[in-house]
Amino acid sequence: MLSSQTVNDHYKQISEQYDTFPLVSGIQSHINRLETIEELLQLDPNTDLVVDLGAGTSEMGKLWKTKYPHARPFLCVDPSPMLPLNEPLIEPIQASSADFAVRNDIHFDAMILVQSVHNIAAACPDLQELFTKFRTQLRARGRLCVAIRPLDSSNLPLFRAAHETFAKDSLPVELIQKTLIEAGFRRVEIKSRAMPHDLPKSLWYKAIRGRFFSNLSAHSDEEIEAGIHELEQGINKGRDNVVFEDIFHYVCAWK
Ligand SMILES: C[S@@+](CC[C@H](N)C(=O)[O-])C[C@H]1O[C@@H](n2cnc3c(N)ncnc32)[C@H](O)[C@@H]1O
Repeated sequence: MLSSQTVNDHYKQISEQYDTFPLVSGIQSHINRLETIEELLQLDPNTDLVVDLGAGTSEMGKLWKTKYPHARPFLCVDPSPMLPLNEPLIEPIQASSADFAVRNDIHFDAMILVQSVHNIAAACPDLQELFTKFRTQLRARGRLCVAIRPLDSSNLPLFRAAHETFAKDSLPVELIQKTLIEAGFRRVEIKSRAMPHDLPKSLWYKAIRGRFFSNLSAHSDEEIEAGIHELEQGINKGRDNVVFEDIFHYVCAWK
């Protein structure tokens, strides 16, 4: 797992480049993931106060409030300075998961953790205790969703060394499910969705060089170039585009 400082530096840098990664971390992927979570958790903008933990640049919150201007508050929680504190569409809370979990003045109907649970687990070793606190903060009929990519990244056109660091930087979905059950959630289900991608190779390499997945921060510039060379000589040889599916698991838990 990467250290909190490395994670902070990584996301600060990457947040300045979101638009260069239009599919994998761009706006369309946020729209797709938010629609999936809305459907799976049956979110109701009129009644549900939602917390996005590890919200990053708060894309989810901005999309939600743009789609539903009169929705109940959407709290975007993140310890990073990239959290937009003056964004009128959202309610930002600059806090770590551990700090947020002890806020007994805040209660909510749904909590989402999108691509953030691996960072949260690295900073907070007792994930079960953390989920138990969130369960307590959730109102009756509250629900929580953890969205993560699978440990096995073989669906993604990455080089061999990057597949290895990807697995080290991730958490198994079964572990998240088990931890949520042990934290007392009544029903915990895993749903998976695949988002098809077809994009120019040059854009994909730009994203790799920009280290759009946090595990890529573990690789030096030389390793990244060697990895791109490996892709050029291997799976991408003779191709103009990379075509793949970005798979996400959604672990949904009901209080
Ligand atoms: C991959 S980003 C995901 C951002 C956003 N959810 C998205 O899908 O674009 C992971 C986020 O987790 C945040 N994070 C790291 N450590 C955290 C912690 N201890 N508590 C809460 N969030 C944390 C990072 O600052 C970063 O914004």
